[in-house]
Amino acid sequence: MKKTGIFFVLLLAAGLLQAQEKAPTPPMGYMTWNFYADKITEHDIRDIADAMSANGLLQAGFNYIFIDDGWQGGRDNKNNMIPDPKKFPSGMKALCDYVHSKGLKLGIYSDAAQLTCAGYTASLGFEDQDAKTFAAWGIDYLKYDYCDAPDDWQTAIQRYSKMANALAHSGRDIVFGICEWGNRSPWLWAKKSGGQLWRISADIRDKWQSKVAPKEPNDLHRTGAGILDVLDINTKLSTYAAPGGWNDPDMLVVGLYGRKGPSGDLGGTGCTDIEYQSQMSLWCLLASPLMISCDVTNMNEATKKILYNKDLIDIDQDPLGVQGESKFRKDNWQVVVKPLANGDVAVGILNRGDQPGTFSVALADMGLPFAYQAKDVWSKQTSSWNKALTLKIDAHETKVYRLHKK
Ligand code: GLA
Repeated sequence: MKKTGIFFVLLLAAGLLQAQEKAPTPPMGYMTWNFYADKITEHDIRDIADAMSANGLLQAGFNYIFIDDGWQGGRDNKNNMIPDPKKFPSGMKALCDYVHSKGLKLGIYSDAAQLTCAGYTASLGFEDQDAKTFAAWGIDYLKYDYCDAPDDWQTAIQRYSKMANALAHSGRDIVFGICEWGNRSPWLWAKKSGGQLWRISADIRDKWQSKVAPKEPNDLHRTGAGILDVLDINTKLSTYAAPGGWNDPDMLVVGLYGRKGPSGDLGGTGCTDIEYQSQMSLWCLLASPLMISCDVTNMNEATKKILYNKDLIDIDQDPLGVQGESKFRKDNWQVVVKPLANGDVAVGILNRGDQPGTFSVALADMGLPFAYQAKDVWSKQTSSWNKALTLKIDAHETKVYRLHKK
């Protein structure tokens, strides 16, 4: 190979390696939007940081706090972005220092246009300056939205690449979350454009499923995306996820219980604990970023049981970084299978129907050719799986097993 050829191969390898270092497994943390909307303050962030470091969420792997829209206070006379002085009187640097002192990382939000989705100052035309400002504050993650921006792909790719490049030259490692809701198939270009994760759907609402079946994914912006709607988009995208680049099916609505606010809009009247358990199960099987959005300063026992499930988090964070695939679909039954680094396999069985039922299947029909020792990650019981399986599963329930070949 010619010298220039070798140089480019090395450059490409270095680029890929850098992307993997930034998000080798799907990012996990707390996102402020669904609970606080644009009323978020530094006081809230400190409370969240205190809660997460004291209640075990940080220890379970949720190590980011992502500040969403509403923190901005415009620009100063040098055009530097500033936080709203009423909501963030101590400034972002002091807040970053506080969050870091608790062992957590801090994410922030902006948009590739003049205004954000909630109408606040955004970053178009100020990418380099804003990236440097975020880096100087100590920010570790940027969610970059796409409201108020043109529809075409080319402009989106250009604007996202511009900010990715600005972050790369900011002097700090900042993970880049692309949020254009899947409208321009970001799974095809987001990683090349410098993103480590990309939203794949309209905003998720606190509900199981859109009442009106969407003719195409874009309809969900109007009808409101539920857990099943987003699942159905994500199961088609498994091949695009890998260490360093993840499909992002949006926040966990676990524990919101129909709260008013963004997740309560468009029919988001709340889910049952079984449905929340399903969301956590399916998000982990699909190697999704895990962004909690309920009130982490005051969670009930059911919510904690769902969010702290170590066996499931291990499946989500498995270093092989494979997004599970939908391997079986018949009537209301759906099976997602995710290979794991140590040779084990994670299997999720979802009852999409509105009635409890009995699922009977030959293991081979789910692509499982061996006999296995199976651990139910919810009940923690183990059993033997040989050739076939019969299970009782509640309406909207997902059972998850970690299989070890016998
Ligand atoms: C968009 C995003 C949401 C949230 C809001 C903030 O709707 O998709 O996740 O960030 O903007 O305004």
